[in-house]
Amino acid sequence: MNQPASRSNEPLIHHWMPFTANKQFHDAPRIIARAEGVHYWNTAGEKLLDSVSGLYTTPAGHGRREIRDAVARQLEELDYAPAFQFGVPGSFRLATELAQMLPAGLNRVFFAGSGSEAVESALKVAIQYHRVRGQGQRQRIIGRARGYHGVNFGGWSVGGMVKNREAFGLGLPGVAHMRHTHIPENRFQMGQGEHGGVDLADDLQRMIDLYGADTIAACIVEPIAGSTGVLVPPKGYLERLREICTKHGILLIFDEVICGFGRTGAPFAADAFGVVPDMLTMAKAITNGNIPMAAVAVREDVQQAILDAAGPEAVEFFHGYTYSAHPVACAAALATLKIFREDDLFARGAALAPKFLERIAALRDVPIVIDTRGFGLLGAVDLAPEGGPGKRGFAVLRRAFEQGLVLRVAGDTVIFAPLFITTDDQLDEMFDKLRKVLATV
Ligand SMILES: Cc1ncc(COP(=O)(O)O)c(C=O)c1O
Repeated sequence: MNQPASRSNEPLIHHWMPFTANKQFHDAPRIIARAEGVHYWNTAGEKLLDSVSGLYTTPAGHGRREIRDAVARQLEELDYAPAFQFGVPGSFRLATELAQMLPAGLNRVFFAGSGSEAVESALKVAIQYHRVRGQGQRQRIIGRARGYHGVNFGGWSVGGMVKNREAFGLGLPGVAHMRHTHIPENRFQMGQGEHGGVDLADDLQRMIDLYGADTIAACIVEPIAGSTGVLVPPKGYLERLREICTKHGILLIFDEVICGFGRTGAPFAADAFGVVPDMLTMAKAITNGNIPMAAVAVREDVQQAILDAAGPEAVEFFHGYTYSAHPVACAAALATLKIFREDDLFARGAALAPKFLERIAALRDVPIVIDTRGFGLLGAVDLAPEGGPGKRGFAVLRRAFEQGLVLRVAGDTVIFAPLFITTDDQLDEMFDKLRKVLATV
């Protein structure tokens, strides 16, 4: 038997925390107790500035009364109804609103409870779509190194995050990965890099040459890879992927779980980059992070092919979650979309972006900074590793928290995704605090 846990850790040990250094956390807990606007408060009542919009979830600000009221009203009216073979009014309204917001053609919406589930749903749609059209041999999915598509088996298999993969074995068969898009030639470039776009995208063509287009169902990428450190696609990259997919009948899936809902200054990254995928996954900001919800938007004819293939009374897509289109989540999402519209929040985010990117770029003069990049309100700073991979990054996270700043790190990369309601002064505060922390690590 192992030693029993020490008594001082006892209140914390029963919660096995996700993506967290649990043992370290028990020694130095970072517990957030309250939030409002762009701020959190810890359990000691100290104020913290949120520089990552929750976890890219909460761009409209913490504690939005409109969402809280909509959720409370929904709970009074209808707390839950079965998701299979029954519907709730809110989901149809929400799907219609999303269809109006999404790039033209992406107007069929399947709901899920998390980004990971939205990704699994999209991959299954892709496989079934080809199958019902007599191309069942199209089973392969092409992902990308340093991609992150959540933690379920399909998602981590097509993703390219080493830590996410190494513990869990082989994953989904028939998966191959293109190179990631973070190349040295584009270092310190804000916005889209000038170099490598078409050549990197031609990795997809190389996969086609190797495996045959008729074995490939889909290619999934984040337009900007978020979780592995804000890898902005070089110029021409997404356009080229689109061209190759169209030519070879491969479905292009954009995972916009982070990029969606104004993060790039446009409603979706597909709009910002002018490239429309065949499916688009979304989550996080869809409810301003208030209630778990996610969705995959599907090209109309892709859904239609699946509907047409089944008999009149058959379930066409053998897939769904107990909490698909949960009525409370739908209410939260409808209230969130209303806030986005009425507060013109995407435009507000877009207006803040130039100053934000300037502040990120200015960090170039810090001696330990080895790259800066960003697009819209997503930015990242790479730090020279010190004492082993990720150690310096983690030290930044801890010290920033002590200085009243919540930020996100991926290894030795510091990631920023400010709320769209952040003021210029708060941006200054964010980067002044970061500079002070960087001077100590
Ligand atoms: C691009 C992308 N896809 C999928 C996911 C998984 O979402 P979730 O954590 O809600 O399952 C994430 C989470 O950060 C993500 O960034």
